[in-house]
Amino acid sequence: MPNKTVTTLMQMKQKGEKIAVLTAYDASFAVLQEDAGVDVMLVGDSLGMVIQGQESTLPVAVDDIVYHTRCVARGRREALLVADMPFMSYSSTHQALETAGRLMKEGGAQMVKLEGGATQLDTVSQLTANGIPVCAHLGLLPQSVHQLGGYKVQGRDDESARQMKEDALALEGAGAQMLVLECVPAALAKSISEALFIPVIGIGAGVDCDGQVLVAYDMLGITPGKSPIFLKNFLTENSSVAEAFSAFVKEVKAAEFPNEEQSFR
Ligand code: KIV
Repeated sequence: MPNKTVTTLMQMKQKGEKIAVLTAYDASFAVLQEDAGVDVMLVGDSLGMVIQGQESTLPVAVDDIVYHTRCVARGRREALLVADMPFMSYSSTHQALETAGRLMKEGGAQMVKLEGGATQLDTVSQLTANGIPVCAHLGLLPQSVHQLGGYKVQGRDDESARQMKEDALALEGAGAQMLVLECVPAALAKSISEALFIPVIGIGAGVDCDGQVLVAYDMLGITPGKSPIFLKNFLTENSSVAEAFSAFVKEVKAAEFPNEEQSFR
């Protein structure tokens, strides 16, 4: 099978085929995720919390993402490999180009992801102009957790919902080729997914996004602490990590995950 590209994902959206995305941080998980048919592997800065044991994603360094992206690249065969730009590694356009360049040249990333709306438009268009595919990220922005006052659902009032949709359209206009929506009411995520040409991948954003992403350690029940309502432990009904990844892909493709109880209103 050929490599999955941004074009493949766009075609999947047009055909109504759901996109299955998981985070990956090492080669062994990447092999299992490939075997399960995962379309996109995200080397998320969530690694700060689930691998490094940090309290937030803020301490993650570019070197950390480069290292883990390189590990995942060795296990990846066809999935699109996306790497997160860590906190304060894209605070100017110049710095964003340097960070993205490292993630692609040293890590082997095929797309970079960054958090934020209107403030990131110049950065997104500069990265795009330099041949770097960009995945934007709206809704709950973990890198802004201190500004947001915690990990909370975003876009619940009319004004913030309107602003989020406007930001999503502007990011697409600036050249973003994929969008992650995190912890957003399902109806708002549906309306944003329908308004955009690019694939919209939800986490805690309802079933009507073009695809779903989960943190692999979370959906295997490894991460300690209380689980958010949008999370499903796929290992409880399956007897191996490989089967849990396959069940996730199957449920995403069949639009069975997330269900209404796993979504926000
Ligand atoms: O860092 C991460 O793993 C992410 C996903 C939760 C989308 O950004």
